[in-house]
Amino acid sequence: MNDAKEEIKSRLAVEDVVGEYIELKRAGRNLKGRSPWGVDKTPSFMVSPEKGIWHDFSANKGGDIFTFVMEVEGISFREAIEKLAAKAGVELKKYGNSDTKIAKKKTRAREALELATKFYQVCLTKNPPVLDYVFYKRNLNKNTVKEFRIGYSPKDGQALKNFLTKKGYTENELETAGLLNRFKGDLFRGRMMVPFINTDGSVIGYTARVLDKSEPKYLNTPETLLFNKSRYIFGYYQAKEAIRRDGYVVIVEGNMDVISSHQAGVKQAVATSGTAMTEQHLKILSHLTQDVRLAYDGDEAGIKATERAINLAGNLGIDLSVISDYHGTKDPDELIQKDKSLWKKAVENPKPAVDWLLDKYEENLNLNSAKGKKEYSDVAIRLISYLKDPVIKKHYEQIVAKRLDVTVEDLKSKKLPSSPTHRLKPVTTEFEKPERIKILEDSLLSVMLFGGEIGSKINLEVPEDETKLDELSLIFETKFKNFNKEKLEKAIKEMLAEYNRELSRLKIEELSKKAEEYEDDEEKFNDIMREIEKLQKG
Ligand code: UTP
Ligand code: MN
Repeated sequence: MNDAKEEIKSRLAVEDVVGEYIELKRAGRNLKGRSPWGVDKTPSFMVSPEKGIWHDFSANKGGDIFTFVMEVEGISFREAIEKLAAKAGVELKKYGNSDTKIAKKKTRAREALELATKFYQVCLTKNPPVLDYVFYKRNLNKNTVKEFRIGYSPKDGQALKNFLTKKGYTENELETAGLLNRFKGDLFRGRMMVPFINTDGSVIGYTARVLDKSEPKYLNTPETLLFNKSRYIFGYYQAKEAIRRDGYVVIVEGNMDVISSHQAGVKQAVATSGTAMTEQHLKILSHLTQDVRLAYDGDEAGIKATERAINLAGNLGIDLSVISDYHGTKDPDELIQKDKSLWKKAVENPKPAVDWLLDKYEENLNLNSAKGKKEYSDVAIRLISYLKDPVIKKHYEQIVAKRLDVTVEDLKSKKLPSSPTHRLKPVTTEFEKPERIKILEDSLLSVMLFGGEIGSKINLEVPEDETKLDELSLIFETKFKNFNKEKLEKAIKEMLAEYNRELSRLKIEELSKKAEEYEDDEEKFNDIMREIEKLQKG
């Protein structure tokens, strides 16, 4: 795999790979552009063609072409290398000897699923009643059916298995692909087949709908080597371009809502399985845009899911809003059937998620009663505790206080209530807590390694990874190259001081958490507190 990696690197220029996503301009020996994560105010994304690396100073990420594609597309290393291999015209198979057993299993499963998808597509064309369901009941057109690769699984419980067995696939391989039931027959029978298409365009599973009222309405591929529900985003492959271009994503509940929405021209729509959105889903989407619009039902599940999303969004810098005007219909699909321009309008006029939730709470409670006020303040305070930005926090504190006719101080004097959603694990993301520390560490390392004599004042562990070293040299060039000796010395002093402060702050945080655990053990508790005090004194 390493040989393949080198071969690909030698064939692709970093500025070309990055240039597909970001507009780059010359800046001396390097190139400069805007962060694809939308966090910079001035261009802070640097590319070094000589070294084949990039560094984003605002998001504090960097690396080579592989890490760039992984980060920006939200895909795995394997997927990134496959993508870039195709672009470079490098045949990965030639380098396949080092491939793991797992990788081979995955490849076979992927191939089986590709054939299965084609098989299902053919079965659809041969089945007039199913065609009727797809084209007339669901109102899908030919293009949509083709783009989403919709098909039909025959009722007879062996048809697909027989077909793929003839093509040389073993029972075991079909199981790996998630195509068999526990009796080793076809898992999907008599259903409209909607493939789960991966970020690279390959099929990794299906969601399959009955054509009548029987249960379960949808049958989905179970977790397999290829399909991971908590990462997978339905429609991502088809929506990616539009999301990037228009700068927002619409998350709907149902997969059919995604398909209808695309057909109606709103191509920014994706779905996570129902309302079960995870941090991974949001993280992947946050690489494309910060503007995330939820189109969930206004029912209890939709409210809970929105609260969860707000809690997750804060850490990722995501701006969350809610699309809620369905004009009395049940979901986006039904709204589109009624009048697709209403859906378009709804998507363009979302409401900030916190406002939407506060309105929902108000709708569901009687704010004229003491009990209603208490409950409202409980849920509202909890919601506000999820918000990260101090200005936004204050804004909502004032709104809530006003609605309750109390002061912000009254509100703050309330203890945070414990309630079901509070059981949510506090969410930490890689680039949340130690972010500042990582930036300082990178800067200090860059001076230590490339700053000549002055750098010897710094004593940090040198990273072994060569790409990282190249990245550090780019950081040095960009940030410190023009500093004279005096200025550099001063910068080092300040950075070291801040670095040490941050480190001890982190340590104190950890110790306080530990102290909480030992609240009942006085001796241990006091030990920890002493340690904390020592750190606080510096
Ligand atoms: P809905 O019941 O709202 O379905 O479930 P829908 O999307 O409106 O479907 P249609 O229009 O009746 O065809 C929303 C989502 O919940 C999951 C599916 O992902 C579905 O898209 N679901 C629902 C299942 O996985 N299994 C089920 O039996 C039902
Ligand atoms: Mn529906």
